Amino acid sequence: MKNEQISTILEQLNLLDTNQGLAWLADNLKDRVCFSTSFSQEDQVITHKIFSNQLAIEVFTLDTGRLFPETYTTWSNTVARYKTPIIAYYFENKALESFISNNGPNSFYLSPERRRQCCHIRKVEPLQRAIANKQVWITGLRKEHSIVRQNLPVALWDEDNQIIKYNPLLAWSNEQVESFIKVNAIPTNVLYERGFTSIGCAPCTRAVEPGEDIRSGRWWWEQNSSKECGLHKK
Ligand code: ADX
Ligand code: SF4
Repeated sequence: MKNEQISTILEQLNLLDTNQGLAWLADNLKDRVCFSTSFSQEDQVITHKIFSNQLAIEVFTLDTGRLFPETYTTWSNTVARYKTPIIAYYFENKALESFISNNGPNSFYLSPERRRQCCHIRKVEPLQRAIANKQVWITGLRKEHSIVRQNLPVALWDEDNQIIKYNPLLAWSNEQVESFIKVNAIPTNVLYERGFTSIGCAPCTRAVEPGEDIRSGRWWWEQNSSKECGLHKK
């Protein structure tokens, strides 16, 4: 992408509100915009806005093969509700076969390095294929998720992935997300009713106690790691 084009898009996205931003992208960058959903509550809000307004934005998910049964149910319920395709991306078979053959199925518990390798094979590499040829990648990142995410802008140039990243719900509070879901009767993951506040792969996510950090249930056995899987370096 040319620098001027990147600047124009970033300016627009930083100016417009969530609905306007999504609509502007669909109208102006048809076929070059995608949204990654993990079926989290915030992702379900964005999915609802895209599908119910029939915006020309490709919605995709990275199926790691280790998601909770409840997440697959949320995925099914979402397809049933909106009747619009959600594209599924998978790991490269050869890479996963070799990793599991050498390390066993649960080696992510053994070291941060093994964990990052698993995340790379199951999420990061498929993400790179999903966003190749796209100009804008929409995510459900919110400031409230973590200290690192508090410094994010709504729209930014992601140098590693050579793409514009748009976080339309960045400033939304948890209450805003929950109320939007309730008002619009959007399907959500039942795990939120069981103390889960951030949901990733089943072996790497657990419920948290009230008042605990939102992301403390992710990779909980790692004390000093960044609690990121490599999808979001920014
Ligand atoms: S993660 O990096 O820790 O796994 P998190 O669960 O907070 O990310 O989700 C942040 C955003 O990353 C989501 O709103 C979504 O856009 C994207 N994302 C995370 N996991 C997936 C997934 N499995 N498939 C598609 N997008 C995902
Ligand atoms: Fe593998 Fe866990 Fe990362 Fe999922 S979250 S890709 S199971 S290490």
